[in-house]
Amino acid sequence: MSQPLTIVVGISGGIAAYKAVNVVRAFVLAGHSVHVVATDAALRFVGRPTLEAISRNPVHSELYEGVAEVRHVAIGQSADLIVIAPATANTIAKLAAGIADDLLGNTVLASTAPLVIAPAMHTEMWQNPATVANIATLRSRGVTVVGPAVGQLTGADSGPGRLEEPDAIVRAALAAYDASRPDARAAQLDLAGRRVVVTAGGTREPLDPVRFLGNRSSGRQGIALAEAAAARGAAVVLIAAHLEVQAPAGVDVREVSTALQMQDAAALASEGADIVIMAAAVADYRPVEVSEGKIKKDERGDTMTLELVRNPDILAGLAAAKAPGQLVVGFAAETEPDRAAQLELGRSKLARKGADLLVLNRVGWSEGFATERNDITVLDAGADIVLEAVGSKLSVAHRILDVIAERLH
Ligand code: C5P
Repeated sequence: MSQPLTIVVGISGGIAAYKAVNVVRAFVLAGHSVHVVATDAALRFVGRPTLEAISRNPVHSELYEGVAEVRHVAIGQSADLIVIAPATANTIAKLAAGIADDLLGNTVLASTAPLVIAPAMHTEMWQNPATVANIATLRSRGVTVVGPAVGQLTGADSGPGRLEEPDAIVRAALAAYDASRPDARAAQLDLAGRRVVVTAGGTREPLDPVRFLGNRSSGRQGIALAEAAAARGAAVVLIAAHLEVQAPAGVDVREVSTALQMQDAAALASEGADIVIMAAAVADYRPVEVSEGKIKKDERGDTMTLELVRNPDILAGLAAAKAPGQLVVGFAAETEPDRAAQLELGRSKLARKGADLLVLNRVGWSEGFATERNDITVLDAGADIVLEAVGSKLSVAHRILDVIAERLH
């Protein structure tokens, strides 16, 4: 570990909290700046002065302290890495549900840093279906789970549930941090030799020589996918429709304007490709007639009707024609605010289009488009949620490629 990190060590209330002191100590001795966020229950097991002396920083536990400096979000926002050790069954359940009724919950929710948890509890609690489901949820969101180890528990019993050894937690946490960085992922080159096609941007359907029907897609998420795939060693073709930002270097860019042009370019590029990712916003309809000259309002009067015809569904066509082993990924931008309804829309779209994976993101007047960040859920053909990710479009792109790369192998 070269560069010093700002690490938040979250401690929840279990007997194993005393071992968290060694986790804190190991990070400090390695040169990192450590801020402890303890739950009230944790402070019944291990004293605040001990944690302050070892971390060399004040220990935070109160949600209503430091309100003026907006501490409930500031700690999470400044973290490079969050490690919760021990993570009790209760804390794990709260993390899975996104509950923020204490400082630790707020810190985690306000952070985009990698999250590492080291569970510790009795075997029955670890094996309880509620905990099993919560751990699966957290893993699907990219949380790293270290342990628990198998061994002697607090009472006479033994089994899985023992907190992993502090040095193993520290090693796993720093590895999770390294793996979360785009440049570290690039070094993996796990897509070397693969051919990847990405569509990006928004198509435009002309009405006349100066006007078109278009959409607000900036192409940023597609560009990030192309950049991430290229960094991981893939040969990338980017089919670009009116990008607002520059395409990445080292990528074969093919510019198109309309949905029909995109269909041709995508069909050509997809031959022999391993992965096809349709991130572009494709117009569902185009004008039946394109006027040779500029449409004149004097000739049309106060109202004007446009007749539109459906465009082909490029994604559905590619999915239907895909070669064995090829992976076809669609995107779905929905304005539906209700999460369950949004997932339902995604699931039926995935089935209708026949894609292998569908990346779902919510869009609205101020969400999704032209922003640097994204919040996505990935569904697979079995309709399972295989990934939930929030962060920069590049980090989200890498997370999506992790899922894709795993399925290629
Ligand atoms: O049906 P909807 O437009 O929501 O589907 C979005 C997904 O389908 C995206 O992956 C988009 O690129 C693709 N699509 C397509 N051809 C269309 C419309 C959408 O390939 N005509």
